Amino acid sequence: MIRCVYPPLVSDENTELGHIPVLPNEVVELLDPQKGETFVDCTAGLGGHAAMIAEKIGPNGIIVLNDLDQSNLNRAKLRVAKALCPENPGSARVHAILGNFSELPRKLKELELSADMILADLGFASTQVDDPDRGLSFRFSGPLDMRMDQSSPITAEELVNTLPERELADIIWRYGEEKSARRIASKLVAAREVEPITTTDRLAELVRSVSRGPRGSINPATKTFQALRIAVNDELGSLEALLRVMGIALRKKAQGEDSWIQSNARIALISFHSLEDRPVKRAFGEWKQTGWADPITKGVITGTESEISSNPRARSAKLRVCRSVRGNAC
Ligand SMILES: C[S@@+](CC[C@H](N)C(=O)[O-])C[C@H]1O[C@@H](n2cnc3c(N)ncnc32)[C@H](O)[C@@H]1O
Repeated sequence: MIRCVYPPLVSDENTELGHIPVLPNEVVELLDPQKGETFVDCTAGLGGHAAMIAEKIGPNGIIVLNDLDQSNLNRAKLRVAKALCPENPGSARVHAILGNFSELPRKLKELELSADMILADLGFASTQVDDPDRGLSFRFSGPLDMRMDQSSPITAEELVNTLPERELADIIWRYGEEKSARRIASKLVAAREVEPITTTDRLAELVRSVSRGPRGSINPATKTFQALRIAVNDELGSLEALLRVMGIALRKKAQGEDSWIQSNARIALISFHSLEDRPVKRAFGEWKQTGWADPITKGVITGTESEISSNPRARSAKLRVCRSVRGNAC
């Protein structure tokens, strides 16, 4: 049972910045920040979680912010520096790293840093989903883009208009768990022969016309949008890569070698659907079995009713936390 020690984090600052962090109290409680520690945030977003941790570790602490999105990263850096060192934000030890979290070990090595706490809060920030130009949501009319990393060459428009029907159906089935995947893919391929599919509206309308998915509060296009988003950003590939590099670092630490993860480090992962939670659960199980890390949470932690009512994104959030072992050399 998690004891909440902070008021709910629906602060004016979060509302103004456009993204409310999920499970804020639980994350801080379980990461258990101590003065002067080093926190690595693999998915900085708008810096909501990191700002809370910053207040706990104080000006002698170090924060590494990583994100694929330059604009989020810039905003997070300003906010976290202020939280870490309110008297003199310019002197705060905040490192902002632009890039995929799977590449963090090399960058941390360059900075000669190792983490006491690590957080990966997967998926997108509300600022990204609510920006029509990103094409992530059928709620807004926009181009079919969906890229988290704006320098990446592949957009959803390219996938929808060029993939063979079978591959398109496989993506919608595998990453969207959409039962009508074959029918949707066939409709999209027929439609693109008449005219390329270039907008979120058009895609949503085509999916709706053939989907037998649930009606009512869930839009029938939900699963297809999720599938394309995962494919465009190789979200599961990046997650697997992150878990792999974490596993390597944990093994090194357990064997007393140099590692970017300290002994006794707390590692928290927040996932938003079962395709993400499954590999996290499997990795935590393997690390426990090999003796590299012990779970801190029993199963998953989910949002309280009160959090979900003020932050609907929290509805599907699942948090798992573990702790690296002490290691032979320590
Ligand atoms: C849910 S938001 C994080 C919100 C953050 N915890 C906060 O409190 O503001 C997820 C962020 O992770 C970033 N992201 C997603 N996948 C990533 C990856 N593979 N590497 C780096 N950043 C990633 C997104 O750009 C987004 O800004």
